[in-house]
Amino acid sequence: MSVGKNIVIGVCGGIAAYKTVDIVSRLKKAGCDVKVIMTKAATEFVTPLTFRELSGSPVITDMWEEPKTWNVQHIALANWADAFLIAPVTANVVGKIANGIADDVLTTTIMATKAPILLAPAMNTNMYRNPVTQQNLTKLINLGYHVIEPATGMLACGIEGPGRLPEPSVIVDKLLNRLDMCQDLKGKRILITAGGTREPIDPVRYIGNRSSGKMGYALAEAAAKRGGEVILVSGPSSLPAPDKVTTKKVETAAQMHAAVLAEFATVDVVIKAAAVADYRPEMVAEQKIKKSGETLTINLVKNPDILLDLGQRKKEQLLIGFAAETQDLMVHAQEKLTKKNLDMIVANDVTLPGAGFNIDTNIVKIIYKNGDIEELPQLSKQQIAQILLNKISEMLTKST
Ligand code: PMT
Repeated sequence: MSVGKNIVIGVCGGIAAYKTVDIVSRLKKAGCDVKVIMTKAATEFVTPLTFRELSGSPVITDMWEEPKTWNVQHIALANWADAFLIAPVTANVVGKIANGIADDVLTTTIMATKAPILLAPAMNTNMYRNPVTQQNLTKLINLGYHVIEPATGMLACGIEGPGRLPEPSVIVDKLLNRLDMCQDLKGKRILITAGGTREPIDPVRYIGNRSSGKMGYALAEAAAKRGGEVILVSGPSSLPAPDKVTTKKVETAAQMHAAVLAEFATVDVVIKAAAVADYRPEMVAEQKIKKSGETLTINLVKNPDILLDLGQRKKEQLLIGFAAETQDLMVHAQEKLTKKNLDMIVANDVTLPGAGFNIDTNIVKIIYKNGDIEELPQLSKQQIAQILLNKISEMLTKST
């Protein structure tokens, strides 16, 4: 199933580097194309030649070596990879990645990639348990990295405890599962709303908002790639309909309400990333309104609150809302979570540079119904989508 997948393996300087030889060999046998990056320290434990022979590709050890073809090597590899595995990853490299340090070819490539990254830490037990290492690993997990727990046993340094690199077969299984790529949403129907609504004033004018659909489309695309059966109800957006997603286009809040209700009974998850107009003009003029007096008054009436309605009808479904705020972010988001009977709300302060409407990144805080809060740094909307789906996938597993 993994034939044709491109894997970059990073090897750091630890005694367990000898096991990575077996990992590369197993991945090749599974039909993957493998390229290896070694840190300088790793080359003290195993020679690049060994990895070159097994992978059938030149091994990269140096940022400054003459590239074999004309391209920027770390960027080319970052784009080429379907997945990254660093095994063993040392406390030093965990610390560098967690703190944005990119001072060699491995850490630079990791920083440049959008592919999923698996880390297999192997080190002395005390180093592994050191709070700094643990904090760095937690930070990376929260950023969407996948950490393979080290095995427990007698370590090369003579201490017994966690810190051993798991058996190569275990690591390869985890990597291949992740590649095929986490079909963790298979069998789940997921309804996602995206974009802003438009409330007509007359045949040529409307009340709208700045939502581009980027956040909701990123979620729909990622959920479909993870095996979910995705229905995307979208307000007007210039984005192309994502692959393998049933996309239903609507204009107004009332149309979005109807489209969402038509699906609600049969879905497992609803994610409402759309920015829905709270009010609409009471009357829609049949003809274009002509310029006349100095002022024009348009009477607005309340739209249905779609999410509130779903919260009242909810049975087994997970309900995820977004809150776009310009002040008192957490207070308002908490209120919406409770009032709309949500399982989770994703709060974004849309006044922050790098967050909110019509840009490629967002800065969000996730609030759960048990009161737990997780804060994410500025990330691409694709990365945020993956992290939110990780959380949703965990919630779905717990509820079955
Ligand atoms: O589309 P982008 O340009 O990528 O921008 C992304 C985003 C800023 C639109 C997105 O991250 C976001 O915050 N979406 C929710 C915007 C919003 O309308 O928030 P709200 O606080 O007004 O509404 C709270 C929740 O109730 C939302 O899930 C909303 O979809 C839902 N709602 C609101 C009003 C209404 N009448 N019906 C609803 O279902």
